Amino acid sequence: MGLISKNLIDLKSTPKSDINLIIDTAFTQKEILSRSVKKVPILKGKSVCTMFIENSTRTKNSFETACKILGADVIGFSKTGSSINKGESYKDTLLTLEAMGVDLFIIRHFASGSSDFAAKTVKSKIVNAGDGMHAHPTQALLDMMTLIEHRGSIEGMTVLILGDVYHSRVARSNIWGLNKLGAKVRICAPMTLLPAEINSFPCEVYTDLREAVKGVDAINILRIQLERMNAGYFSSIYEYNRFYGIDTDIFKSVPKDTLILHPGPINRGVEISSAIADGPNSVIVNQVTNGLAIRMAILYLMLQGENR
Ligand code: CP
Repeated sequence: MGLISKNLIDLKSTPKSDINLIIDTAFTQKEILSRSVKKVPILKGKSVCTMFIENSTRTKNSFETACKILGADVIGFSKTGSSINKGESYKDTLLTLEAMGVDLFIIRHFASGSSDFAAKTVKSKIVNAGDGMHAHPTQALLDMMTLIEHRGSIEGMTVLILGDVYHSRVARSNIWGLNKLGAKVRICAPMTLLPAEINSFPCEVYTDLREAVKGVDAINILRIQLERMNAGYFSSIYEYNRFYGIDTDIFKSVPKDTLILHPGPINRGVEISSAIADGPNSVIVNQVTNGLAIRMAILYLMLQGENR
């Protein structure tokens, strides 16, 4: 058995004890990243498949780097150049790779529910690296680690999640994770970018940004997902930026020490100005480093002591 649950699909179903153990372990794993030789081969002999059927820079590369630091073998699978392009199904692809001895799949897929499907299809362990609009648990874990690193604890914090909540698996995972660790969660978006089921989430809902930012400890700014904008969610990028963009003007209404997070990739000048993204309140680059530590922790906790 690993040291946490077999699969990591979303934070709604992940026990609070797993969330705390992953973040605590990530703080200890982060020390390895400051060493001149970043190699701790505790997962030697383990085989991890990074299965990315949707684009990624941060998640894919940090998981692959984490595998290399911990000594696991990596099978880097992407749709381009694979037999999916010859019509092979997702299920047959999973079964084929599992038959090559994969201990753990890390899956990024455009379809919500694809990681859950994988968990029901193969015996290997599954980490959801982002499935459609459903969940992105490792992103929320690294966001929470970054908040703890700067504030000591999440308990009692007020965290605003701002922007394209409708399309956002990052928002859905953060809402559940932050609640489990005792934060008060606000979301703010135009009505058209709020999910229909928003009242079933444990958060306060705002449509007026100036109201939403009052007294916040942190703002997690979501990317406007232009690739998923298949309807008229707002009339122009200019209008979105005017009412929901974080820039130096709205920042005058925000508490001075408010932390600014963004999962990336950033649309500069749309949801966030460069002055704020690169400014003193921004912890966006820290999020990326913490992402590597969180992914090392997850691999360690899921695979350590595990024999196929
Ligand atoms: N935040 C995030 O998931 O980024 P990537 O799409 O680059 O992995």
